[in-house]
Amino acid sequence: MKKTVNTYKEAKLNGEKVTMLTAYDYSTAKLMDEAGVDSILVGDSLGNVMLGYEDTISVTMEDMIHHCSAVARGAKNTLIVCDMPFMSYQTGEYDALVNAGRLMKEGRANAVKLEGGVEVAPIIKKIVEAGIPVCAHIGLTPQAINAMGGYKVQGKSSEAAKKLVEDALAVQEAGAFAVVLECVPADLATFITEKLSITTIGIGAGNGCDGQVLVYADMLSMFSDYRPKFVKQFANVGEEMKKGFKGYIDAVKAAAYPEKEHTYKIDEEVMAEVKGKFNG
Ligand code: KIV
Repeated sequence: MKKTVNTYKEAKLNGEKVTMLTAYDYSTAKLMDEAGVDSILVGDSLGNVMLGYEDTISVTMEDMIHHCSAVARGAKNTLIVCDMPFMSYQTGEYDALVNAGRLMKEGRANAVKLEGGVEVAPIIKKIVEAGIPVCAHIGLTPQAINAMGGYKVQGKSSEAAKKLVEDALAVQEAGAFAVVLECVPADLATFITEKLSITTIGIGAGNGCDGQVLVYADMLSMFSDYRPKFVKQFANVGEEMKKGFKGYIDAVKAAAYPEKEHTYKIDEEVMAEVKGKFNG
């Protein structure tokens, strides 16, 4: 059965955790769907994971639509949430509405996600009023990385912690169905979760949230150069892939692949005729 925003509501009421993972392509989405994840986030982290950018700033609407529609073709039962990229909503309510609509119509998303708290609440309200479910995202918001001065834990001072609670209440009031809490101290994330009637989804925010999200390339250890403290390694796919690639390279160089069982046959008479014609 297709998971929807109601899956989130029911889970919160029943005290059940919800699961979310990022995906950016058909094959990965299909595997996650088959594994039974509740929701897939087509995150603008695709800029880092798939496109090799340093941050998410350069990701475009076209990038998001292209990847979201591939995910939608792969995941039939999963709620698909698509990130609104940098400057697709910060420029005003009209742009936000048009771009959220494109992610739904062309990207086939079931909901959109955008970063910010009190300051984007009117934008969230407008999108929700148009019948588009919105997931908010507060705490560490990577699109504001240049203003934040780096990837750091948020809400550590009493002033910053109170601002985060106000942000959470504001996005709930605006109609968001869920809010991602990124890099927030665990006790503060638990407090926010208890205060809200909507679902909190933690990433680097401890075990007190209603659900969790991770970037799939991080939790599968696809890259060995960087892993944030909050990421647990659930598999070592990067090493397995490299092992496979190296095995292939070695086998081809040594003329050990393809073997007989990997080749197609031709009748001997046909080959003899061909050789007769061309070898004289
Ligand atoms: O883009 C993304 O992957 C995200 C998650 C880190 C929550 O926003």
